Amino acid sequence: MLVLIKETAEEGSRTAASLIAQAIRKNPALRLGLAAGRTPTELYQNLVNLHRSAHLDFSRVRLFSLDELIGLSSDSPNSYRAFFHQHLVDHINVDRTHLHLLNGQPKEEIASYCACYEQLIREHGGIDLQILGIGRNGHVGFNEPGASLNSRTRISLLSASTRRNLARVFDQAAVPEWAVTMGLGTIREARTLLLLAFGEQKAEAVAKAVEGPLSASIPASCIQLHSKAIVMLDREAAGLLRNQEYYQREASRLTVLLPEWFG
Ligand code: F6R
Repeated sequence: MLVLIKETAEEGSRTAASLIAQAIRKNPALRLGLAAGRTPTELYQNLVNLHRSAHLDFSRVRLFSLDELIGLSSDSPNSYRAFFHQHLVDHINVDRTHLHLLNGQPKEEIASYCACYEQLIREHGGIDLQILGIGRNGHVGFNEPGASLNSRTRISLLSASTRRNLARVFDQAAVPEWAVTMGLGTIREARTLLLLAFGEQKAEAVAKAVEGPLSASIPASCIQLHSKAIVMLDREAAGLLRNQEYYQREASRLTVLLPEWFG
């Protein structure tokens, strides 16, 4: 695991976008996994800027989403599908047939829908690079505390704390109870993970995920099992890490590791 600590979220987002751009330039048909939420918003804006100003080409890139809330109407502005369109997809030259966004209202039975999504990822050769955020309770995707470290794409009941966080965009009564999410086993199969966390409110979850024991109680700790995981933090999110000084010194390895990790 490589922990990169930047001064600000802005710098972290810019660096993350630059890593993804390098990955796309190295492999123009990159299979990229997308997370939604506040954290990666600026990263997506940076990717859009790179597309516009530096001709970053998404025409062969394939996009897969990490999760989606269940039960929202197809035109809901709060769906993650709408989020990806608003922040990324509508501003880049991605081929619409390369867009694989989870549907929170699938026509078929949910278990077979989830199995088909797994199959789709496999058929396209797996995900090369998965962007992740982290919840204050340590969730990743919507794998809530207690989720199996080997879980697959499935329906997941949202925890009370996750629903409280979502209440910032929904009326309290309308906060969805369920989501469909890639499992921790699915996420761990991505060739490289890029987990972003910014702000003091994430510091405790980050410290547990990065330096705490591997535990289903902190689903994001599953990144410890991954041999190619980058954790991109700002100063505040890194605030409770014990080994900050070591991570700072190790950060220079990035230039050596990148060609191998994004190969
Ligand atoms: C979203 C997702 C969630 C978020 C997490 C943090 O696709 O998978 O795990 O990454 O809840 O959300 P923000 O970034 O809004 O703090």
